[in-house]
Amino acid sequence: MIENFKLYSQYYNLLYYDKDYPAEAAYIIELIQEYFPNAQNIIELGCGTGKHASVFAEKGFSVLGIELSEDMLNIARQNENNRLRFQKANISNFKVDQKFEIALSLFHVISYLTDNSSLIRTFQLVHESLYDGGLFIFDVWHTPAVVSQVPEERIKKLSNDQIQIIRRATPSIFSEENIVEVNYDIEVSSLKDPTQLSFKEIHPMRHFCKNEIDLLAYSTGFEILKSEEFLTKNVPSNLTWGVAYVLKKINS
Ligand SMILES: C[S@@+](CC[C@H](N)C(=O)[O-])C[C@H]1O[C@@H](n2cnc3c(N)ncnc32)[C@H](O)[C@@H]1O
Repeated sequence: MIENFKLYSQYYNLLYYDKDYPAEAAYIIELIQEYFPNAQNIIELGCGTGKHASVFAEKGFSVLGIELSEDMLNIARQNENNRLRFQKANISNFKVDQKFEIALSLFHVISYLTDNSSLIRTFQLVHESLYDGGLFIFDVWHTPAVVSQVPEERIKKLSNDQIQIIRRATPSIFSEENIVEVNYDIEVSSLKDPTQLSFKEIHPMRHFCKNEIDLLAYSTGFEILKSEEFLTKNVPSNLTWGVAYVLKKINS
């Protein structure tokens, strides 16, 4: 089990070794400075292994990360300190005992909420957790890109001096629901010993257009302040997979 966990965390780190968390955190901090310059407290929904959260804490924010996966939390908790805390919960059903100026949900976490009731509930809970004027910043899959690029089967092979990963992704497309279910078959092999780990993950992902987010925001007490391509700040197009939205809480 411990060997499995070690392999799993090595797998996760290798899979996202080229994701530039410090640059992404800097981009988010720029958005915060633009729309809520005195913000200090952040709640991050679906914080995963806490890589963005750690950067925010290093930059002086107090961060509470909410995450459902025990595997992710075990990695995140290795960096816990008095400005960086984690709570195991579903983002559609969490309880917190304080308010925040900023709520974040990064790397397509909102796209994991595929049904309307979970989405509405999550937005309502975020609304309750924010001070008046607080911001909800998140990035989601963008419908125009999914429709024009059509996801297809892909195999990703990666290795470092510790492990080798082979990950096959097979998508199923549910056009009426705006959902793409990505079925992953994953094999992780240690290069140091005979340990191997094979597992499947199913990631049903929902994609959104601006009007849908606008409707969701309006019906849960937010307005959209900004939408742009995540990180590049470009105007979203059918080449834009991830769009960042900045929402402001407009009524209590
Ligand atoms: C693609 S990962 C992103 C993790 C992290 N935000 C990052 O940027 O590395 C999606 C994360 O959302 C979490 N997640 C998905 N649905 C969730 C839910 N309903 N409640 C809590 N966490 C959830 C998953 O466990 C996973 O850690």
